[in-house]
Amino acid sequence: MGEQRLDEQTIKEQLNAILNDDVIEWSKPIMTKFMKLMAYYRCAMMEIETKFNVLNEEFSLRFDRNPINSVKSRLKSLPSMKSKLSRRGVAMSVDAIEEQLNDVAGVRVICSFTDDVYMLAEALLKQDDITLVEAKDYINNPKPNGYRSLHLIVTVPIFLAREKRLMKVEIQLRTISMDSWASLEHQLRYKKDYEFDDRMASELLRCAELSAELDARMDALRETVHND
Ligand code: GTP
Ligand code: MG
Repeated sequence: MGEQRLDEQTIKEQLNAILNDDVIEWSKPIMTKFMKLMAYYRCAMMEIETKFNVLNEEFSLRFDRNPINSVKSRLKSLPSMKSKLSRRGVAMSVDAIEEQLNDVAGVRVICSFTDDVYMLAEALLKQDDITLVEAKDYINNPKPNGYRSLHLIVTVPIFLAREKRLMKVEIQLRTISMDSWASLEHQLRYKKDYEFDDRMASELLRCAELSAELDARMDALRETVHND
């Protein structure tokens, strides 16, 4: 999900791709406003990433192990923002992007154990500059296809020279095995020239169950080794 730099050239290319089917004429000032908003989202992702890195550091000092395997950020691409808005029947504008979309900025935290997912979420949400907008626990309540992860939408302030701005960030916390299932499922689902049939879906569900069992067994194993 590596961080995507939305420089002017990239945006122009993405705009051109969109212009094929639908016209968005963005004047220079609107373009500048968009670039500014994207910069704010990048700052918000940095704030969230830092918070998780700090928690990881503290935890590794206290317990001599890392609850976080990796943290990755991504900005939603312009074509995805546009198609999400149009699916909802909302006209594309810079304000609509900020007001209607919760997942422009996304941070994914890959954790060692399932318990770490909840420990880290709780530690983040306790911080007094973080506000929870929405939580979806797809670990205790997996999606019908087997998808598991803890999703949080939060706001985090970013401090600019003259103002403070609250930015929304979507955080996905999951274990290594939840992450490997999700990324393989995603690849299979979006594979071109391939019919995603029922057999495939039920096989993936079976894999998700195995992955959940793996996590449960690893959690049990950890408890016999550590007592934190
Ligand atoms: P979206 O319109 O997809 O954002 O739906 P939503 O706002 O109801 O969000 P939800 O919390 O269900 O999912 C948001 C994100 O979680 C997606 O963009 C994916 O990154 C991830 N996700 C959700 N469901 C699945 C799934 O079944 N498979 C995989 N691989 N990822 C998923
Ligand atoms: Mg979403």
